[in-house]
Order: sequence, then C-alpha cells, then structure tokens
Amino acid sequence: GVTNENSHPHCDPTCKISIVHNGIIENYFEIKQRLMDAGNKFTSETDSEVIAHLISENFDGDLLATVRRVLPMLRGTYGLIVMHSDFPDLIIGARNGSPLVLGIGNEEMFLASDVIAFGPYVQKIVYLNDGEIIKIDQNDFSVTNVQRATIKKETQDLESDVADISKNGFEHFMLKEIYEQPESIKRGLAGRINFAEYTGKLGGLNMRDAELDAIKSVVIVASGTSYYAGSVGARMISDMARIPTSTEMASELIAKNIIVSPDTLYFVVSQSGETADTLFAMRELKRKGARVLGICNAVGSTIARESDGGVYIHSGPEIAVASTKAFTSQITAFAILALIMGRGRGMSIADGDRLIKYLAAIPNAVEHILTLDKLICNIAKKYSSCKNFLFMGRGICHPVAMEGALKLKEISYIHAEAVAAGELKHGVIALVNPDTPSLFLVPDDELRGKNISSMKEVHARGGKIIVVTDIDDPEINAIADDVIIVPKTDRELTPFTFVVPMQLFAYHMANILGREIDQPRNLAKSVTVE
Ligand code: G6P
Repeated sequence: GVTNENSHPHCDPTCKISIVHNGIIENYFEIKQRLMDAGNKFTSETDSEVIAHLISENFDGDLLATVRRVLPMLRGTYGLIVMHSDFPDLIIGARNGSPLVLGIGNEEMFLASDVIAFGPYVQKIVYLNDGEIIKIDQNDFSVTNVQRATIKKETQDLESDVADISKNGFEHFMLKEIYEQPESIKRGLAGRINFAEYTGKLGGLNMRDAELDAIKSVVIVASGTSYYAGSVGARMISDMARIPTSTEMASELIAKNIIVSPDTLYFVVSQSGETADTLFAMRELKRKGARVLGICNAVGSTIARESDGGVYIHSGPEIAVASTKAFTSQITAFAILALIMGRGRGMSIADGDRLIKYLAAIPNAVEHILTLDKLICNIAKKYSSCKNFLFMGRGICHPVAMEGALKLKEISYIHAEAVAAGELKHGVIALVNPDTPSLFLVPDDELRGKNISSMKEVHARGGKIIVVTDIDDPEINAIADDVIIVPKTDRELTPFTFVVPMQLFAYHMANILGREIDQPRNLAKSVTVE
C-alpha cells in the first residue's frame, strides 16, 4: 500500500540503521519469518525493511564490512543506501540490478537512481555497476566489490541539459515535452543524414557495412511506449530494408526460452535505459550470444553501457511519466536505421532521396500539428464524459493507435482499447455503441478504402467517430463526427504526424478531468523492478 509506514527510509529495531532500497528482495519472506521468530518487530509491509534488520543483526562496528557480509544473503535486485546514526559522515551504497549513481557537486556528494534527480547540484557523476559497493565519507568516495577488491571508477561530466529541468512556462512537463518535439526530432536527425549517398549514418552502431548487410533478421525488444516505437520501427525496417523484423515485449521475452540466431540483430529500446524488464531481456540475449544494440535516451544508463553499441536518441530529459517526445525520437532513430539498412540492400537512390526529404520536413509538420492544439482540446471537451474509447489503425498505424490508447489510459484513466482496424469485425465491434467513441487513424495510402469501410461499420452502429487523417476527403468528412487533418508525409513516416494529435488529445482529456498529468496514479517513469 501507499502509506507512510511503507515509505523509505526503513530502520532496524534500534532505529540506528536506515536504508533506502529500490528493487525487490525475493527471499524477504523467509528472512522476515526467521527474524520475527527471533522477536524482531516490523513496522512496514515492505520487503526492504528486512535489509535494515539483517544489517543490524550482523553489525560488528564496521558498516561497510557488515553490508558486504549481508548482501550475499539477499536474493533479488537492489539499488541500496545504508546509514548508521553513530557514523553520521558515512554512507554505504550497493547495486545489483537496480540503478545507482554517484553525483559529485561542490563539496557535497549524492546517491540517486537517476541522474535527473541531481538537478543543478552536481557536475560530475560516477555510475555503479552490479556487484559494486560504494563508501562515501566526508572527503571522498571509494568503490569495492563483495570480494573486497578495489575498483577504479571513471568520473564523467553530467550532461548540461540534465541540470536544466523546468516547465518553461508550460502548465505540465508533458505539454512542454509534446511542444519540444519539432526540436527533439531535429536533434535526433542532426548529423545523421549522408546527403551525398542518400543514406543515413549512425556512429554508435559499432558495425561495419558488411556486417550490417549480412543480417538476415531483426528483433526489437522493449516495454511500454518504447515497445510501440519498436513496433513502428519493425514496420519501417521490414518495409524499407526488406529484412524480416519482429518485436518482443521484454517481459515476455524473459518469460520464454528465446531462440537466438547468429544472423539476427537485436535492438533494445528504452528511454530511461534502466527498465528492469528490458535490461534483463538484453542480458538474457547477450548470455545466449546475441549481438544487442541499444536505442536509449539517457546517456550512460545501464542499457546504454551494457549493449554492444547503439543509438542515442537525444530527445533531452523526459520528466512526465507519459512518454511523448521520446517516442518520436525513437522512431526517428528507426527511420534512419531503416534508411541505412535499406540503402545497403535494394533501396533505390530515388527512394532514399524521397525519404530524406520527408524526414527533414517532419519537424515542420509537427510544428503545424501543434497549431491544432485548440481544435484538439475542443474535441476532448466534447468527449470528456465517455468512459471507453476504441483506437483503430491499420499497417504502420496500428502500433500508433496502441500508443494513442496507452497515452489516454495512462494519464486520464479512461479505458481505451486499440484494435487493428481489420480485426474490428472479428469481435470488438460488439463494443461499439453511441457512448463508445472510435478514434480512427486514416492516412491517404492504399489502406484508406479499407479504413473507411471500418468507419462505416462503426457509423452504422451509432458509434461516434473521430478521425486523424492527412487528406480533406468528402467521404471521410461525411461519416466522421470530428476530423483532425495533419500534414502529408511519406507513408512510412505517418507515425510521426499521427501520434502527435493523440498525445494532445490524451493530455487535454486528462487536464479536463483534473488528473495528475505528470505523475499519474500507480505509474513510475522508470520501472526498475521486474
Ligand atoms: C514505464 C513508463 C512508460 C514507459 C515504460 C518503458 O512503464 O511508465 O511510460 O514507456 O516504462 O520505459 P523505458 O524507459 O524503457 O522506455
């Protein structure tokens, strides 16, 4: 439960030892049972509290040595901080599976699970790896491992944009981040187009052209919004580079015994670079011999460091729990990847040229969509009493519909279900009624006719229809109750222009309903537990 008793720090029975723990202690129950049998009293329902009790039970006057002895008794994951009130100038930290980073400021040091927490107070950082223990005293820090070996750590500069975190006049971080997209997409494209050869360039892949050309299939692994960005990326790579590409939810990949093939290239996608499901999936793939590249936003994050190379999306710090600009930056990276892989195979100069021109025009197209904000807000007002929504898209717009539904669920708490439009007739149509609006994504491509047929099926059953489209089409206008027209782009790039209206729609819906937009209930920005 979310209660004062369950919040950290947690203490031992003498209240001298305090701990803060991020992660899950899998064997806490047996430890707690034994300690309770021995007479210990617990004040919280957490697994974490047993750590403080265990340290207390084993304490021999040397906090570092005690923590080192206790860690092997814990099964599970931790980013852990320990203090003892008799030693006020000493902090011990330890990491296993959950992130921990040291921030060094002006005569002060901090430990956190994410560099974003440091704000302007820190100039240098040191990332800890699994199995490492840090001791901080008044003057310095030192890092060792459980076997007591000293580990020399590199100090890095903290990226300046991490220190600059403000809403910049916007009511919420989410709205600010939606509005940042023209700039963040531009940053993701900067220096990554090779105009002379009509292709892209990504320095961090650590792969020679010949190695890329030898790839026979691609698998993309991620969670949440990053998974939907990966699903868009999979379509881009399959369509443009003609390489069979599939996606795996990270949590599902760990749940099965995945077959790793040497000709397959694996991408893990993560804004934070710390999502436990995605990290553990990456480690499992690597254990099985896979080459795994990361697509991350957070520079220096665990996934970025442990992957075999990859792409930074450079969208800047994303603070709102609901991911927006990271999604469009992730698909920017995938568009460049698809261009590189496509040009290494059958993609013509003309197709490469066309794609580059449309990609370069995306920031302006998004800028234009932001001018539709008022219209989208009014549409949200009109439907704000609805309890259920359907989101429908076909082809590359199907994962975009899923992302749109996820945004609405995350921040407005309205139930939304995304359906591949062609699947509507296979069951979901039973849900259509005048109180359940459908939001259709209808680009002007070869699937438009089929999408209009699905709209007609909904219309005939009294369902209200909101359409996002890139064409002023009388046939669409005749059936739809509300239409949002976005600029036209290449068919592979429609996810960029179609996702932004849905981000704004979800934002306004949540705002109208008075929700906690930046920190929605029950959600966390970075889920560092499995
Ligand atoms: C959490 C967040 C989502 C995010 C997902 C993946 O569930 O609430 O917004 O999409 O994690 O996060 P990542 O940092 O790996 O992209």
